[in-house]
Amino acid sequence: MTERIRAWAPGRVNLIGEHTDYTGGLVLPMAIHLGTTVAGEVAGGRVALRSDAEPDPVEFDLPLDAATAAAVTPSWGRHVAGVAAVLGSEVGVVGTVSSTVPLGSGLSSSAALEVASALALGASGTPAEVAAACQRGSQVGTGVPCGIMDQLASAAGVEGHALRIDCRTLEVRPVPFPDDVDVVVVHSGQHRELASSAYGERRAQCEAAEAVIGPLRDATAGDLDRIEDPLVRARARHVISENLRVDAFAAALDAGDGDELGRLLTEGHASLRDDFAVSTPVIEALVARLTTTAGVLGARITGAGFGGCVVALCRPGVDPTPPGLRSWRVRPGPGAHLA
Ligand code: GLA
Repeated sequence: MTERIRAWAPGRVNLIGEHTDYTGGLVLPMAIHLGTTVAGEVAGGRVALRSDAEPDPVEFDLPLDAATAAAVTPSWGRHVAGVAAVLGSEVGVVGTVSSTVPLGSGLSSSAALEVASALALGASGTPAEVAAACQRGSQVGTGVPCGIMDQLASAAGVEGHALRIDCRTLEVRPVPFPDDVDVVVVHSGQHRELASSAYGERRAQCEAAEAVIGPLRDATAGDLDRIEDPLVRARARHVISENLRVDAFAAALDAGDGDELGRLLTEGHASLRDDFAVSTPVIEALVARLTTTAGVLGARITGAGFGGCVVALCRPGVDPTPPGLRSWRVRPGPGAHLA
């Protein structure tokens, strides 16, 4: 008899703690109720998946090495193949991929695919272990040196909670999300063209800062003067201030203080714009509009940046979406599981 498997993994939205994960910093995302399902028959030595969102299926043999995974076509299959390479999978799956996470939305449809694939390929272990394998799989498959936030948020989500994650220890603390605050993600309409090359550059700038002042996680604003290069100093200033904002945000969640949550969001946006330089004129116009809309507590660019989405915290039921743009009202949902 053939064995069937069905794995589901959610997308995520990052509330605060942006561009901190790859320096072992603090992040505060939440898994969302939208997710990706990989379902099919367990099959020896082969992966064959058809996606409801892609014209062409993906097929490859197992086991496969990293170089083979990075060359799989069509390219969406590299997220699956990278994970299979890292896991050393020898038993595959023949079936389908279906997703309610809008593609290219900044809601981590890729991480959802990676984590659902890992579970479908039989990955076991803690959410942190599964996420680490998926992070490496993503890097192997796509060449982008991503951090662990997206995959860990997807693997470790808790219904009704945001997740305060320490990316140094991978400790996850679920923080109850207030009922009287809505999370609305608005797509700017601007595709994230330069995201992968600029992402690697930002990561390298953080490493340059760490070569001077040591781990940014342990640094304070007082260390910044020792960094001569003004660009590198600004990148470090963002990371140091952002780590502090994550804990301030977690405290505001604990206190159910929506106004403070919104204030921190907007403050984080200014840091991403001025010090980390991942905003764009299109995003600026959208954030300016949202933050002056009645019932919006705060807004900021979310995810890697360079276009993509803005996350807004709103009073219940408020729809701040400007005409012509797409948006999603998201709720904190559970993490990945076999279904
Ligand atoms: C992308 C990466 C994450 C993280 C964010 C920025 O989403 O995949 O690891 O670095 O950008 O916070």
